[in-house]
Amino acid sequence: MVNEMRGTTTAPAHYTLEDLRLGYGERPVIEGLSTQIPAGSFTAVIGANGCGKSTLLRGLARLLKPSAGRVLLDGEPLEEMAPKQVARRVGLLPQSASAPDGIAVRELVGRGRFPHQNAWHMNSREDEEAIEAALRRTSTLELAGRRVSELSGGQRQRVWAAMLLAQQTRILLLDEPTTFLDMAHQIDFLDLFAELNAAGATVVAVLHDLNQAARYADRLIALREGTIVAEGSPREVITPENLREIFGLRAVVVEDPETGGPLVVPAASRPR
Ligand SMILES: Nc1ncnc2c1ncn2[C@@H]1O[C@H](COP(=O)(O)OP(=O)(O)OP(=O)(O)O)[C@@H](O)[C@H]1O
Ligand SMILES: [Mg+2]
Repeated sequence: MVNEMRGTTTAPAHYTLEDLRLGYGERPVIEGLSTQIPAGSFTAVIGANGCGKSTLLRGLARLLKPSAGRVLLDGEPLEEMAPKQVARRVGLLPQSASAPDGIAVRELVGRGRFPHQNAWHMNSREDEEAIEAALRRTSTLELAGRRVSELSGGQRQRVWAAMLLAQQTRILLLDEPTTFLDMAHQIDFLDLFAELNAAGATVVAVLHDLNQAARYADRLIALREGTIVAEGSPREVITPENLREIFGLRAVVVEDPETGGPLVVPAASRPR
């Protein structure tokens, strides 16, 4: 897919986060957060509900401006870039998105091309090819003529992913991309993002399934109450001690029989 990304450079992109504070109104959600997201990495953000994962992704997409600190994209402050410039480089698959009333699948996917078009949004041949490729890659080609509002949750999620692919960005921010998918589609999707990553895209994904996070990501960032409590390789982060600290979860960590990586097995609840 990235090879089909004509008109965009293929050099991977990276982020530097410096003492970042993000929030809504006066209340900070993310506070004093500093880290690097290396070019070409697949980073999974993990943490309990409400700890600030989606807020962090919104900050990386510049949907939320820092009230302190900075987000640098390839060394440049994100705040100083034009919105269109950001949209050509950074694509976000939000946790929950609502489509405009009555919009058809192909049209919604076509909106992923807006950052590459002028104000009239006329599709060029390149746009049509990008839309077609995105529909194919997400198995949504047969849904192209349907209304988004009439699709199932999983179908809709695949359509939003198609829109993201059509955007052809070097950075993919994925907020719980597999939530509505059956297990086979979850694996298909993660394989797809892994392929895009292997072809040069920098991926940052919020994942609740820690075993999937351990398999697909090369780096994990664990948040608790808006700060990083652990970061590093899956093996470094997925430990019984960290799971207790991050989630208050009692679990053992065994070897994944498929990959040799860490596999989380939650402790059985006490007999009643
Ligand atoms: N638009 C908003 N306005 C005000 N507060 C918000 C808004 N969005 C999120 N918050 C608050 O910010 C905090 C972090 O929310 P966020 O959505 O980043 O959590 P999360 O880690 O993504 O959780 P989840 O796993 O449930 O998706 C929560 O306390 C939430 O109530
Ligand atoms: Mg969230």
